[in-house]
Parts: sequence; C-alpha cells; structure tokens
Amino acid sequence: MKQVLIVGATSGIGLQLARDYAADGWQVLAAGRNIAAVSELVNVSAIAVDITDAQQVEQAFAALPDQALDLLILNAGTCEYLDTQQFDGAAFARVINTNLVALGYCLQQLLTKLNDGGQLALTGSAVVHLPFPRAEAYGASKAAVHYLAGSLRLDLASRAIAVSEIQPGFVATPLTARNQFNMPWLMTPAEASMRIRRGLARRQTTIAFPRRLIWSLKLLSLLPMSWQHRFLHRM
Ligand SMILES: NC(=O)c1ccc[n+]([C@@H]2O[C@H](COP(=O)([O-])OP(=O)(O)OC[C@H]3O[C@@H](n4cnc5c(N)ncnc54)[C@H](OP(=O)(O)O)[C@@H]3O)[C@@H](O)[C@H]2O)c1
Repeated sequence: MKQVLIVGATSGIGLQLARDYAADGWQVLAAGRNIAAVSELVNVSAIAVDITDAQQVEQAFAALPDQALDLLILNAGTCEYLDTQQFDGAAFARVINTNLVALGYCLQQLLTKLNDGGQLALTGSAVVHLPFPRAEAYGASKAAVHYLAGSLRLDLASRAIAVSEIQPGFVATPLTARNQFNMPWLMTPAEASMRIRRGLARRQTTIAFPRRLIWSLKLLSLLPMSWQHRFLHRM
C-alpha cells in the first residue's frame, strides 16, 4: 500500500486530499494541530503537531521509519491580511513562520523519511503571479515557497525525488471564508483535490489551477501598473 503524509490535512484542501487518497487505497498520515476532523477517517492516521514548534515537529514524526513515504505533501498554511496604515509586524511574522520557517522544520525531519524515487509537494499559491493588495505577508511567504521548491527540485534530483509546487487559485475553505473581496473562479476543495492528485500522479513540476485565473494573472502582470491596480482594486 502506498503511503502519503499530508502536513496540513485537518481542514480545507488538505482534508479533502486525505479523504480522497484514503478512498483511492493509500495509507494516509494526516497532520495538523486540530485532528478531530481526520481522527475518524478509515485508512487515515492522525498526527497532532504544531509545525511552528521545532520540538513538536521532531517528536511527531520520530517514529516514522526512514524511506517510508511515497509522497509528502507540505500543505499547511495560514493567511493574515495587513494594513499598511498600521503595519503589524507580529502578524507578518506569524504568516512567514507558518508558511515558510515551519517548512524548514518539516524538511529537516521528513526528507529522510521519503523514499528515493518518491515525491515531495509544496503548496504555494497562484498569488505568486501578481502582487495582491494587503498580501504583503502571505504573498511574500508563497513567493519564498516557489523558490524553495525550485532549489529542492535541483538538490533532490540525485535521489530521483520529484518536487511539485501546487499553486491553487481561490478554493472555498475556512482560510478563504474570511475573505471580504470577490474571488473569481472559486472552486470547491473536491475540484482542487482532483487537480492536485492528477498533477501529482503525472509528477508535474507545477500544478497551477484554474487555468483561466493563472493565465489572467500572468497576463495582468505584463500590463502597465495602472491597469493592474484598476483590476486589483475592483476585487
Ligand atoms: N483556499 C485557497 O483559496 C488557497 C489558495 C492558494 C493557496 N492555498 C494554500 O493551500 C493550503 C491549504 O489551505 P486551505 O485553504 O485548505 O486552508 P485551511 O482550511 O485553513 O487549512 C490549513 C491547514 O493548515 C494547517 N495548519 C495551519 N497552521 C498550522 C500549524 N501551525 N501547524 C500545523 N498545521 C497547521 C491547518 O491545520 P490546524 O488548524 O488543524 O493546525 C489546516 O490543516 C495553504 O498552504 C494555503 O496557503 C489556499
């Protein structure tokens, strides 16, 4: 039986991935702080961990043998929007810690647990294609994830590990439920999971969706700044 560890599997996109991989016959390890949602799932083992705490990360995954995982998905993330009138440095640090620094703790403990020839996926975001208003912390963290994925891809090639960067557009989850702006082409977690699993099965380098949004963002990024501003402030 193939084994996948999903870090950030207790809600939203990760929870849907855990359900779908289990239904497809995988053994799923599902990690996050609040494990209630995954505790009852068949073929899913819940792991309680706050990934911003290096010690917790070490303890949570210590029992996992080396070369045990076929697939590791680092999906945990958070978002806080900032107000430049009163820039909140603590909020900035919280987002960068969860979305970036904690990935370092996870990689330290988990890279040896991944099979040679296996797969590593990092959840970034479509925001890397265009700076969004108030997304100074979130966007910067995901831009860093993009670079991190690129470097890991180069260095893990010697172990034949494929590294995928997942770039979702807007997906209806608790994370986006707080958004007070228009979210074009909002998808369900089930649709997102289907695209992610299909991309991972193909060992795709970048799994970006929905295409309409990705191409719109790429196109907008080529237009004059005034056009970009007009579009982004209409959202
Ligand atoms: N939804 C979207 O539109 C969208 C778009 C682009 C990218 N993304 C990215 O997709 C990923 C999943 O987001 P989502 O929308 O599914 O959000 P979500 O429903 O809020 O899920 C976030 C997941 O991350 C986990 N997590 C957060 N902080 C953690 C911590 N300190 N330690 C351990 N686990 C932690 C949460 O678990 P606990 O709370 O149980 O700890 C939860 O399982 C994130 O990386 C997000 O940035 C989402």
